[in-house]
Amino acid sequence: MVGFPGFGGFLRERDALAVEDMDRPDCEPGRLNRSYARFHLVNAVVSGWKGTYASHIRPLLTTSESATVLDIGCGGGDIARNLARRAAKDGFRLEITAIDPDERAFQFASSAPPVEGVTFRQALSSQLVSEGLRFDIVISNHVLHHLTPQQLDALLGDTEQLCGRLALHNDLKRSRIAYALFWAAFWPLGFGSYIHSDGLTSIKRSYTTAELQAAAPPSWTVERSGSWHNILVYRVREAPDV
Ligand SMILES: C[S@@+](CC[C@H](N)C(=O)[O-])C[C@H]1O[C@@H](n2cnc3c(N)ncnc32)[C@H](O)[C@@H]1O
Repeated sequence: MVGFPGFGGFLRERDALAVEDMDRPDCEPGRLNRSYARFHLVNAVVSGWKGTYASHIRPLLTTSESATVLDIGCGGGDIARNLARRAAKDGFRLEITAIDPDERAFQFASSAPPVEGVTFRQALSSQLVSEGLRFDIVISNHVLHHLTPQQLDALLGDTEQLCGRLALHNDLKRSRIAYALFWAAFWPLGFGSYIHSDGLTSIKRSYTTAELQAAAPPSWTVERSGSWHNILVYRVREAPDV
């Protein structure tokens, strides 16, 4: 059971040393799989992809050709599957490659019933760069706060190389109110899984808007996404007409 600490300086600074149980190689497989299986509940309630699809992704799609999407750090794969379903409902076809370097996530995601247009791979973004791949849209959800500063630089550099049009890295925004509400609202999902404890650790590790902007290169901008998230956005500049 995770305690709720008193206020004071709590969450004033990012806790980059806090470790999520799911990131431990020896964490309990049953709890881990139940966590992957429940990610979609948390994502549906707080992550805002329905709005982000409507505001950022759908305007780039056409019915005449399919668009390619890369989901980095896909975990259980629900964001990729839902994005494909949402686009299909609107008459668009997406070819989504969803990657995660963790074999356990790959096994879970790829063993779920297949969704047309979604392919899972166990890979790091750097592998795809070395394969010379490129995608119209690159996304991630709840990945940035997991990374060290060096890993963040590498991920953003890889993203710039992999991205043909738009990149959207969605992540939690650290705040006391987010921590308090997550603590109060999501405890039932904690039974038999790491969702509740790791969710709280994730908020401790996550960035404020100013911190995320400072951590990213100037070509990236931070946009608000609902009350609990920021999206780190990169737009590929169109070459000027000559
Ligand atoms: C909290 S899970 C989020 C999963 C999924 N995106 C979601 O929102 O439900 C974070 C995922 O990021 C992956 N990850 C960690 N470091 C990574 C890295 N350097 N590159 C890509 N993925 C990474 C982990 O393996 C884990 O599956």
